[in-house]
Amino acid sequence: MAYQNSPTIVSETPGTKHYCTCGESANKPYCDGSHSRLNTGKSPKMYEVTDSRRVAICDCGHTGKSPFCDGTHSTL
Ligand code: FES
Repeated sequence: MAYQNSPTIVSETPGTKHYCTCGESANKPYCDGSHSRLNTGKSPKMYEVTDSRRVAICDCGHTGKSPFCDGTHSTL
């Protein structure tokens, strides 16, 4: 899998988002359907963004508060 050891920082706008949890998307932090094509057994995390703000999306796959980074990557 293509997980990274740091979050992806994005400036979000309101709307429904589908964040990659498999690590294989070419459009991180968003799902691009790779989880299905590669049979990862994972599925995207749907999240409703209600206001524009910068967020850190987990890309190590170990966060305890998906889809957001909780710092776990720094302990791995
Ligand atoms: S591409 Fe990773 S969850 Fe869809």
